[in-house]
Amino acid sequence: MEVIIRPNADAAAQLVAQIIAHDLRANPKLVLGLATGRTMESVYCHLVRMHRESRLDFSLCQTFNLDEYVGLAASDANSYRHYMDELLFNEVNIDPRNTHLPDGCAADLDAECAAYESLIKRCGGIDVQLLGIGRAGHIGFNEPLSALMSRTRVKALAPRTLAQNAPQFDVSTRMPRRAITMGVGTILESGRCLLLATGAEKAEIIAKAVEGPISSMISATALQLHPHCTVIVDEAAAGALAEQEYYRWIFENEPEWAAYRHLATPC
Ligand code: GLP
Repeated sequence: MEVIIRPNADAAAQLVAQIIAHDLRANPKLVLGLATGRTMESVYCHLVRMHRESRLDFSLCQTFNLDEYVGLAASDANSYRHYMDELLFNEVNIDPRNTHLPDGCAADLDAECAAYESLIKRCGGIDVQLLGIGRAGHIGFNEPLSALMSRTRVKALAPRTLAQNAPQFDVSTRMPRRAITMGVGTILESGRCLLLATGAEKAEIIAKAVEGPISSMISATALQLHPHCTVIVDEAAAGALAEQEYYRWIFENEPEWAAYRHLATPC
């Protein structure tokens, strides 16, 4: 695992977007795992900007989102499908048929989960998986006690998740209590993981996820097992990390990061 600390939330999001853009240019058929949540909004803003300003091409790329609420149709303004359409898919030249999210309204949810896993395999597996982190440490909707080898399945949402995500729901929609989520095992099979966290309210959980013991109580700790996981945080979210000085040295000195040190285009 490597940790990169950027001066502010927008610079952190821009770095994530630049890494994705680099990988997409190197492999136009990239299979990209996507995430939702407020933190990701700026990443999608930067990707759309790069599509417009420097012709970043999504035409051959496939995407798989981590999760979707059970019971919300794609047309529902609170669904993650709607979020993705609004913030990314409608704004770039991606083929809608190449954008995949679990169907939270499927008649047979278990069959839907199995089909999602098969589709990921048929597409050759996920090359780069973008991840946020919930305040209680979940990745996707892998709530406390999610098995570290779990696959895509239906998961009941924990009270802290319900409380954290409720403000995103408008009054007309009751927040679902369950979601389909890629499993921790599914996520760990991706070629590279990029976890983005910003803001002081993520500082404590980032320290536990990165420097704490691996536990199914905090599914993000499983990323310590991944051979190529980059955690990108802003100063505020880095606040509780013990080894900040070491992480800063790596970003400032290791040659692989040279091209990324001076990004400064706000979105
Ligand atoms: C939801 C998503 C997670 C995401 C989390 C963080 O729970 N299922 O994948 O990491 O939100 O959200 P935010 O960025 O709004 O803090």
